[in-house]
Amino acid sequence: MIIESLKENEIPVIAELEKTCFSKPWSEESIRSSFNSPSCGFYTAKLENIVGYIGISIAADEGYILNVAVFPEHRGNGIGRALVNFLIDKYKESLSFLTLEVRPSNTAAVNLYSSLGFEKVGERPSYYSNPTENALLLTKYFNSDKEI
Ligand SMILES: CC(C)(COP(=O)(O)OP(=O)(O)OC[C@H]1O[C@@H](n2cnc3c(N)ncnc32)[C@H](O)[C@@H]1OP(=O)(O)O)[C@@H](O)C(=O)NCCC(=O)NCCS
Repeated sequence: MIIESLKENEIPVIAELEKTCFSKPWSEESIRSSFNSPSCGFYTAKLENIVGYIGISIAADEGYILNVAVFPEHRGNGIGRALVNFLIDKYKESLSFLTLEVRPSNTAAVNLYSSLGFEKVGERPSYYSNPTENALLLTKYFNSDKEI
């Protein structure tokens, strides 16, 4: 498997992946708009084709994970872990932390992030709709005194 930057002509595949994974998927237009933003980065995991992706938005020294998703038939093979680890390795020197929101019911994602050193730093009440659910705020700190 390789992980590399998303190419513009691959955006439709990411929109398909979003539809497969989420009740409120990012549209192709939203992905394209973020893709063209200098503060965002998108990376794909590839076997023969794209099997997963991860996106990050950066503001100053803070990294916000936009989404991570793996096609259902490729889950459970370490691809999600490889994508998050890729961001950790790429940004651990330049950012203070990586953070994200996740549904507490999303056991696979919560376990994935927890196993990589992300800790709960807060909760946003009724953040998600369809179905309504709080968001867990998970953060991995890179600076020495807060790193776990
Ligand atoms: C979350 C997601 C990206 C994980 O991708 P994946 O490639 O299947 O994950 P990996 O195989 O790398 O597993 C890494 C860890 O995640 C956790 N995990 C993955 N699938 C799990 C499951 N079905 N149940 C419980 N924990 C699970 C485990 O801790 C696992 O580590 P282990 O293999 O040592 O037990 C994938 O399930 C997905 O695309 N889900 C839909 C999209 C989504 O919810 N994204 C997160 C939004 S914040």
